[in-house]
Amino acid sequence: MSSNASVLFVCLGNICRSPLAEAALRLEAKKAGLNIVIDSAGTGDWHKGEPPDMRAQYTAHQNGVDISTYRARQIEPADFNRFTHIIALDRSNLAALEKMRPVNAEAEVRLLLDYVPGRAGQAVADPYYGTQKDFDITWRDVSEGAKQIIGLLTR
Ligand code: 4NP
Repeated sequence: MSSNASVLFVCLGNICRSPLAEAALRLEAKKAGLNIVIDSAGTGDWHKGEPPDMRAQYTAHQNGVDISTYRARQIEPADFNRFTHIIALDRSNLAALEKMRPVNAEAEVRLLLDYVPGRAGQAVADPYYGTQKDFDITWRDVSEGAKQIIGLLTR
């Protein structure tokens, strides 16, 4: 990954996991003094236009990031040529991305935890039907991924 990287995180609804991944990478990029383009989207469209889930907003706030202005959107084919990296939060979203990937797509498409040593192939579990504890686990996972990505960008 080069420091010209632009990163799009993708989950199902774009209201829980991918906004938290976006927040975690924004936080780590700021700490590292990197100015990279970061966004998130969902493979589904049910929550289009909505702010993140209140529990995700709370979790980000607890960790120093305000995500209240984020709005859910659905991924579109043009994203594959807007971003250098499209990063799925779990395997079903990775499969959906691979299915919609245009033939001329430039972006590298991967699973977030593939960037974390010892966790390749693992999913960031969906906290939507869970509790605050599940959102805390999501934050831990996305922060670990974000730190590894920043490590790749700064070495
Ligand atoms: P996310 O969580 O994919 O992490 O944003 C979900 C949000 C909404 C739904 C599922 C997962 N839903 O079924 O509406």
